[in-house]
Amino acid sequence: MGFADHLDLSSDGNLQIGGCDTVALAARYGTPLYVMDEQALRHNCRRYVDALRNHYPGESEIAYAGKAFLTRAMSRLLHEEGLSLDVVSGGEIYTALDAGYPPEKLLFHGSNKATDELNMAVDNGIGRMVVDNLPELRRLVAIAGQRGTPVPILLRIRPGVEANTHDSVETGRQDSKFGLGISDEETDDAVQLALSHHLIDLRGFHCHIGSQIMQLQPFRRAAVRMMNFTEKIRDRHGFTAGELNIGGGLGIRYRSCDEPPGIDEFVRTVSQAVSRAARDMQIPLPRLILEPGRSIVGEPGITLYRVGTIKDIPGIRCYVSVDGGMADNLRPALYDAEYEALLANRPEDMPADETMTVVGKACESGDVLIKEAVLPPPRTGDLLAVLSTGAYCYAMASNYNRNPRPPVVFAADGSSRVVVHRERYEDLTALDEL
Ligand SMILES: Cc1ncc(COP(=O)(O)O)c(C=O)c1O
Repeated sequence: MGFADHLDLSSDGNLQIGGCDTVALAARYGTPLYVMDEQALRHNCRRYVDALRNHYPGESEIAYAGKAFLTRAMSRLLHEEGLSLDVVSGGEIYTALDAGYPPEKLLFHGSNKATDELNMAVDNGIGRMVVDNLPELRRLVAIAGQRGTPVPILLRIRPGVEANTHDSVETGRQDSKFGLGISDEETDDAVQLALSHHLIDLRGFHCHIGSQIMQLQPFRRAAVRMMNFTEKIRDRHGFTAGELNIGGGLGIRYRSCDEPPGIDEFVRTVSQAVSRAARDMQIPLPRLILEPGRSIVGEPGITLYRVGTIKDIPGIRCYVSVDGGMADNLRPALYDAEYEALLANRPEDMPADETMTVVGKACESGDVLIKEAVLPPPRTGDLLAVLSTGAYCYAMASNYNRNPRPPVVFAADGSSRVVVHRERYEDLTALDEL
């Protein structure tokens, strides 16, 4: 059904996800509603773990990037699947720990970590701090000194690789707020400081070149550059990195025409680049870490909306309004992200001759979910399913216009469970003072 192989038709001819009829899900939980196929999530975790095991001869680790979608249930699922977890704020650390996720399997990222967050991470025994810059390293040295605690770190490097993706999610080129420049003097100073301080345990290096990347070449280039950097540091400082984290960024299918590389292909490309370089440089194989987010949670998620006002402006366009929009999916407004949708209550009806524009309910003309949707002629009350909304949608959701955020439901084997409840109006005012 659609392009996603985990979507299906129910016995009533409705769209089905995780064995659950979407019309029944909408009736039970209301709309808008995020639904995630739990088995598809687990399957993607296993694909990554298996691929790394098959293609990389050294030690390895998959660290899911929590920024794509993180809740207590997701933290639990990741732990059950044996994945590590990349967190990027005190809130993400709190969420993971609150779900019983082991702190030693967390990697703490961020280009501007607050001192409170650094303290929180060190006090909770976070597995690795991914240090972004020299001032942060100095602050960490001070914190480690105050507590007398050794702190394991990776240094984040900007490898100077263009990822050919949207500007807002390019992170590895030289002009970026993230990381230390691969050939900057300051990077050398950071390595020197990390190696010279007895409480800083420098494990290796990290890079992340961007997100929704549809070619493998940039990943290969980044891996080779990082291995060259590893060699340079070995020659200059006598330190051989034991860990190399190549980040995440693999693209997914948002539309039928999208053709991202598969998880296996991506993992094989990076694994081969690193192991070949290690052999050529006669460097022991580093522990290879990958940090996928979107490619684990993106495609398993859909959002269900109820169709409301339909406004056909003759000769201009037909606006189809739904009961959510930019508050639950900011990506189209933020970086022109494109999606496809189905009418979940009659997915097999023939599409109309003309495309229509699916818009949200926010007081913004820019609240457009799909500019040119191919759908059967819609009716008020239809159920619209937007596909591939599992990543960076709930995670970026807001209360704009004081709309409560939708719930998240996991569906598996024909049953469903709420993993995040729908916000209530009382939640909206809970922190307000008169
Ligand atoms: C450091 C880091 N690692 C991993 C990721 C995950 O990227 P993606 O969701 O594209 O796989 C991100 C996302 O921006 C990131 O900043």
